[in-house]
Amino acid sequence: MVSRTWAEVSQILASGDVKGKLSKHDLPTPCLIVDLDGLEANLLKMASYLRGQGRAFRPHAKSHKCAEIARMCVAAGAVGACTAKIGEAEALAALGVGGLLITTPMVGRYRVERAVALAASRPETIFVADDLGNLADLNLAAGVAGVRLRVAVDLNVTNRTGVMPGSSAVGFVEKLVGMPHLEFAGIQAYAGHCAHIYGFAERKKGSEEAMGLAVETRALLSKAGIRCDWLSGGSTGTYNIDSHIDGITELQPGSFLFMDIDYNRIGGADGNAFYSDFVNTLFVLTTVYSKPTADLAIVDAGFKAIATDKPFPAEARAYPGSLFAFSGDEHGRFFLENSARKVALGDRVEFIVPHCDPSVNLYDRMFGVRGDSVEAVWTVDARGRVE
Ligand SMILES: Cc1ncc(COP(=O)(O)O)c(C=O)c1O
Repeated sequence: MVSRTWAEVSQILASGDVKGKLSKHDLPTPCLIVDLDGLEANLLKMASYLRGQGRAFRPHAKSHKCAEIARMCVAAGAVGACTAKIGEAEALAALGVGGLLITTPMVGRYRVERAVALAASRPETIFVADDLGNLADLNLAAGVAGVRLRVAVDLNVTNRTGVMPGSSAVGFVEKLVGMPHLEFAGIQAYAGHCAHIYGFAERKKGSEEAMGLAVETRALLSKAGIRCDWLSGGSTGTYNIDSHIDGITELQPGSFLFMDIDYNRIGGADGNAFYSDFVNTLFVLTTVYSKPTADLAIVDAGFKAIATDKPFPAEARAYPGSLFAFSGDEHGRFFLENSARKVALGDRVEFIVPHCDPSVNLYDRMFGVRGDSVEAVWTVDARGRVE
């Protein structure tokens, strides 16, 4: 593909019609690129696995925050999308994504009012709650607005939000089912502390213990005469554990679409230390824009381009032995002493990020690429929607 002038690149980007017209080497950096072949393969793998296990699939959109990707997931068989917050849900709903589950509680007047407004246009939306006062607020607001809110009990299986499993949860749900403007949707149980346990056997043990509490709670509800047809949880690290546990009806993994270094390290069911169930598809594309010495290159990506919440650095794709270190807001040091492959000024280097979700949240858009060819530009629609 011929190299384009910036005037051509910006005009093609502005038109939105990019397919086959741009090479990734034309893109201004730093930018996020997504390998479409890998993304499609990851999605197909997860969707077919869960279908084979007879579980519903509601991938978490907190990783990608992008309506286009949420729609791809639905086309692959997902029942909808999870979002972390009301702001994310509103952004995706406005772009036609349905079947939303908001996985954190709607506490605070603005959240309650916005939840009710969302339910008015998207009555299938599921909200979660863990507090009786909050249930009363939701019930009151729903009654005033004339809507019926679908509310699941958020079960605390990870020492974060949620009602404690067992009799506390049953007592909570008994109150919920008595509220005229709320409909009991089921149980949400996210065992986040298990997702990244290193080693499959340990992870399996942890997740079976945590999710076992949710399954037991479901059985207790049934004993109390309360029908509970829906139990949702799970993650990229535990999809092949939780989907084998009787009583879990739906999985909500998110990171499997992109993957990141954090997930690469957890180890697979095959016994390998590298978790290879899903391929890395998300990269920060950078340019070498200074070259102080033969073995040190400075790339144009620092704290503002790659999230820094993990204790390990970004890793360059296809430069074994190289090392990345943040060098301030705008720059990264790229050490090549131990890499057989060197770089020249202007070269492009792609980095796998330590943690995909907060890295995506740094960008307005991502570029879908196949090989070198740019095929799509996707807006990160819920970027910054953390409220
Ligand atoms: C409630 C909830 N469900 C599901 C997920 C998806 O987990 P993962 O991205 O590890 O697949 C997350 C991620 O943080 C989450 O908070």
